[in-house]
Amino acid sequence: MVVFLTRVFPEMERFKTLEALGVTLRVEERDGPLPREHLLRKIRDVDILVCSLAERIDEEVLNHAPALKMVATYSVGYDHLDLGALRTRQVWATHTPDVLTEATADLAWALLLSAARWVVPADDYVRRGKFRGWEATGFLGVELHGKTLGIVGAGRIGQAVARRAPGFGMRVVYTSRKRKPELEERTDARFLPIDELLRVSDVVSLHVPLTPETHHLLDRRRLFSMKDGAILINTARGPVVDERALVEALRSGPLFAAGLDVYEREPEVEDALKKLDRVVLLPHLGSATRETRGRMTAAVVESVRSFLEGERPPRYTIQELLE
Ligand code: NAP
Ligand code: GLV
Repeated sequence: MVVFLTRVFPEMERFKTLEALGVTLRVEERDGPLPREHLLRKIRDVDILVCSLAERIDEEVLNHAPALKMVATYSVGYDHLDLGALRTRQVWATHTPDVLTEATADLAWALLLSAARWVVPADDYVRRGKFRGWEATGFLGVELHGKTLGIVGAGRIGQAVARRAPGFGMRVVYTSRKRKPELEERTDARFLPIDELLRVSDVVSLHVPLTPETHHLLDRRRLFSMKDGAILINTARGPVVDERALVEALRSGPLFAAGLDVYEREPEVEDALKKLDRVVLLPHLGSATRETRGRMTAAVVESVRSFLEGERPPRYTIQELLE
């Protein structure tokens, strides 16, 4: 069995333990997206592919991978995997749910606090020697206490973001496909249809997966229907928001600020966004803590191990493949 890693991941020694099961590990010694033509060339004799969210695994890749039996993505999101094509070829696919929930929720709050309080431009102000003493009118931000946080997609991460809100004195409203009684009980969260949520929320944080239904879920109409002075946080996937409309909503619409970890045409970032100092831009860091990345590696290794040991379905198989 050949196990191919499209890049190096944290705690690589965990992958080495698979060699005791007789597999050949082949690792692309880089940390960055593997160019498509390399992937197509290198996958021909691969049995198990360990990839990241930056590699699209579709019909074309599968056509180049006659031996492929399993794809283990080092991410919870799996919009980069063509599940239909994988199912047709009977290729298992696994992901890394749960282990990155708290880290991603923390990052959503980091973006929220930074966007609300001008943290990034104020840091730059100090570094550039512009701080001459306390000012009464500089960098006036938005207070969070007593405000309403709207969660769009109350799954693992959405709920973890909501659980942090009472600590900041914020009310929680949420929208999802199904109601979440446990969340309502723990945080006093109120379920609202999305359009109403957008009208009443001071901060909106996105946590839906990218699917055909959630593509441009926040389109121009919805962005312009948001509350005056609202803040939008996106740690989900870029195409959930119409990014060009977002720029307009920040320039001349109701939005005060935005905090983004993901982009519509990732890794490209709209120049117009870069020019707005009310937008905090991060390079897709949601799960990037040492602890979480270690747990993600452990989860991927466990998935591969369970497949090799004949478990059907392997540990962490993507739920949709089982339905
Ligand atoms: P999850 O537990 O599956 O939660 C997603 C929730 O979205 C589900 O609970 C589902 O609601 C809801 N949902 C799905 N389609 C919807 C729709 N059309 N309208 C409203 N709600 C909908 O997933 P998760 O672990 O929280 O992760 C969420 C996403 O975050 C991932 O898919 C990934 O794209 C992103 N992510 C990003 C980073 C980062 O580095 N920035 C890190 C991790 C994850 P129901 O339960 O009501 O069906
Ligand atoms: C990150 O975006 C993930 O889906 O794990």
